[in-house]
Amino acid sequence: LTTVREIFRDREKYLNKEIQVGGWVRSNRDSKAFGFLVLHDGTFFETLQIVYHDTMANFQELTKINVGAAVIVKGTLVPTPEAKQPFEIQAEEISIEGASTPDYPLQKKRHSLEYMRTITHLRPRTNTFQAVFRVRSLIAYAIHKFFQERDFVYVHTPLITGSDCEGAGEMFQVTTLDLNNPPKNPDGSIDYSKDFFGKETNLTVSGQLNGETFAQAFRNIYTFGPTFRAENSNTTRHAAEFWMIEPEIAFADLKDDMILAESMLKYVINYVLEHAPEEMNFFNSFVDKGLIERLKHVANSDFGHVTYTEAIEILEKHNDKFEYKVSWGVDLQTEHERYLTEEVFKKPVFVTDYPKEIKAFYMKLNDDEKTVAAMDCLVPGIGEIIGGSQREDSYEKLLARMNELGLKEEDYGFYLDLRKYGSTRHAGFGLGFERCVMYLTGMGNIRDVLPFPRTVGTCEL
Ligand code: 4AD
Ligand code: MG
Repeated sequence: LTTVREIFRDREKYLNKEIQVGGWVRSNRDSKAFGFLVLHDGTFFETLQIVYHDTMANFQELTKINVGAAVIVKGTLVPTPEAKQPFEIQAEEISIEGASTPDYPLQKKRHSLEYMRTITHLRPRTNTFQAVFRVRSLIAYAIHKFFQERDFVYVHTPLITGSDCEGAGEMFQVTTLDLNNPPKNPDGSIDYSKDFFGKETNLTVSGQLNGETFAQAFRNIYTFGPTFRAENSNTTRHAAEFWMIEPEIAFADLKDDMILAESMLKYVINYVLEHAPEEMNFFNSFVDKGLIERLKHVANSDFGHVTYTEAIEILEKHNDKFEYKVSWGVDLQTEHERYLTEEVFKKPVFVTDYPKEIKAFYMKLNDDEKTVAAMDCLVPGIGEIIGGSQREDSYEKLLARMNELGLKEEDYGFYLDLRKYGSTRHAGFGLGFERCVMYLTGMGNIRDVLPFPRTVGTCEL
């Protein structure tokens, strides 16, 4: 079968030739002597019009083809200079590969995104989700390409782990114990030594700690895999299962980390604009007007920089606008992040040097001993898209912080070892992959950029 992508990309090769295509019917209408099928074959954003005539033996059958059916068409590709589409196929033969019933849930009208979430198995067939998931695939490829071109080693970090990287306690437990009748310790608590791994385990919230062990061997590494968080946040930007990209760089500090993050985002923007023009035009017209201009501007200008302390000073002046009032020490909420990036900077901005109390144990303590060398990258429309930091590389300071927070030395012995045997200055960050897809497509809900979203209360298919 010739693909619609080949036809559109290499049209001279196929015009006025006999070809065969296969695809799914988007619409079917007929008048007495002829009919039109609109076909989408999944390889390209555009559809192809098929003209069939009553000279064909199965004409009556063809007029009854329902939307959603799969067909194979043999015919000649002819130019149609006066029509919207540059060409169509004059069919000689059409065979029905798989019929469809009249109750097909995707009829030729605009369906709401909410409705589409109830049919996650069929929504990839629509224009919106064709565009979303092809762009998602391209972004993943572009991210790999960016890091591989710079000789970063791709590390596969485990999904089942015994540690809690972020220390937020938002983990899904993994157990084979019968929790209705679990083995008990003398004090009544569950005896996890009888569990599969001989201890309590969970799905990973981040591959960073494992990633750091490889950075202390390869220098520059990245992870790219699923992460899990049992956050009870029912928002448009939180999922229970999401993908994260976590580079880690040795002999590097927070500045190097931000330079890497900024060049990665710009690279990915340029890649997608170049390689998915049809999809990006669709988003630009139907999802987020002005998206392309904005992304081009972001790719060609510097990101903003502000310290947490400066950001608080700015935000405090606008406390009347916020549901949650800010003051030094509070964590920034989405409303504050969006205000900073949308109203104050009007572009992506790095917020740095957060109070140590609101950040994870592994971040490097600054000289003021109150803040840590952290950075969050905020973007308009979403807020935080990247969270990163320079890591505490002093054995003594890390141990002291772990003790303060009550982290057990036996669980993090490997992590302390990295500070004992040839410790280096090092830094890294985590890019939330779905938030990146949202940013590049203009889609407003994380549920619509995940093929099969898992959020509070929802785990279908
Ligand atoms: O800021 P976070 O929690 O950072 C880490 O996990 C670090 N270990 C990263 C590192 O330094 N290697 O998460 C990183 C990013 C966030 O900025 C956000 O984009 C995304 O992951 N993220 C989520 N995306 C979707 N749903 C959720 N529940 C998310 N939680 C975090
Ligand atoms: Mg964060």
